[in-house]
Amino acid sequence: MTTVTYQNKQYQCGNGSLLDSLLEQGVSIPFSCKSGLCQACEMKVLEGVVPTKAQVGLPENKIQAKHFLACQCFPEDNLVIASLDGETQNSRATLIDKVRVNRSIVKLILRPEKTFSYLAGQYIRLYQSKNEFRCYSIASNPDSDRDIELHIQVIANGKVSPWLANDVGIGEHIELSEAMGTCIYPDKNTHPTLFIASNSGLAPIYGMLKKALFQGDKQEFRLYHGVTDERDKYLVDELTHLSHQFENLSINWFDYSLVTDNKQQSFIHFALSELTAPQDWKVYFCGSPDMVSYGKKQSFLKGVSMKNLFSDSFIPSKTN
Ligand SMILES: Cc1cc2nc3c(=O)[nH]c(=O)nc-3n(C[C@H](O)[C@H](O)[C@H](O)COP(=O)(O)OP(=O)(O)OC[C@H]3O[C@@H](n4cnc5c(N)ncnc54)[C@H](O)[C@@H]3O)c2cc1C
Ligand code: FES
Repeated sequence: MTTVTYQNKQYQCGNGSLLDSLLEQGVSIPFSCKSGLCQACEMKVLEGVVPTKAQVGLPENKIQAKHFLACQCFPEDNLVIASLDGETQNSRATLIDKVRVNRSIVKLILRPEKTFSYLAGQYIRLYQSKNEFRCYSIASNPDSDRDIELHIQVIANGKVSPWLANDVGIGEHIELSEAMGTCIYPDKNTHPTLFIASNSGLAPIYGMLKKALFQGDKQEFRLYHGVTDERDKYLVDELTHLSHQFENLSINWFDYSLVTDNKQQSFIHFALSELTAPQDWKVYFCGSPDMVSYGKKQSFLKGVSMKNLFSDSFIPSKTN
């Protein structure tokens, strides 16, 4: 049992995460994923040692400033901590276009009010209100696109996705966080690269693929897009056009409805089936958490190096 001091009050922290301990004791801390992804629970240590695991995914300047993620923090020593009130770098963007691209996905185009920096493949938090926000991946190419493109899969009983799809109008402002995430496509890469996406997991993959091709990377690229059924394919014209423009790109679709059982597993086996010399490849997975975790495991077992595996798991919010 450790003691955590926050806003001059002391709290006991047992086996659970620091976030859960504080929430259980009635403290209000922003959070969403409880998985170290959304970074909404970011805090800073004033006294004591931050466990390294609680800083995974944070940029170097925040690590140096002793920031950490409360949901990933299992304190080993007593800590004095503080919130980041007034230090967050949220900004605003204007919704300038909204298009339904298939039966469940809406493409949003946001124009940031000021210069917005991000890397290909990163994501942002979009705010419906102070305490209601969700992560969405950026489908734009930071090297060439001025606006932020997002692909929102509308969840029927969801809070934020139906609001974005149905209620936010063109010309309205939306609050967004800084860009975050380490599933990114770099400025230099010579490895052949496999991109595997399920449904709206295509968003970050599309951003990374555009960056790779337009910066002139010449190695082989393979994209596999798994969709719930044929009607859920989207960006088909854009992707087909890219594959005609760039000979080193091949595109494959996988229709889950044609498989009766183990749909995610079948998709992964299809996508990995032609991967010869796996030790040379980089593999990116984005979308459904089940697909991502199964895909990473199978790729590793097949011989892809851990350092060449990248993923964004679209884990639902735990605030419901
Ligand atoms: C790093 C990251 C990046 C993401 N990027 C994207 C993106 O680019 N595009 C995108 O569409 N989403 C993305 N998501 C998912 C997104 O953040 C939300 O979880 C999603 O939009 C649902 O939010 P909601 O408020 O509409 O539903 P909620 O109110 O959060 O959920 C309502 C109910 O639906 C369930 N639920 C939530 N999602 C699903 C699902 N996919 N299938 C079945 N049931 C579900 C919940 O468990 C809950 O019971 C990302 C998530 C993460 C963590
Ligand atoms: S990173 Fe902690 S709640 Fe999302």
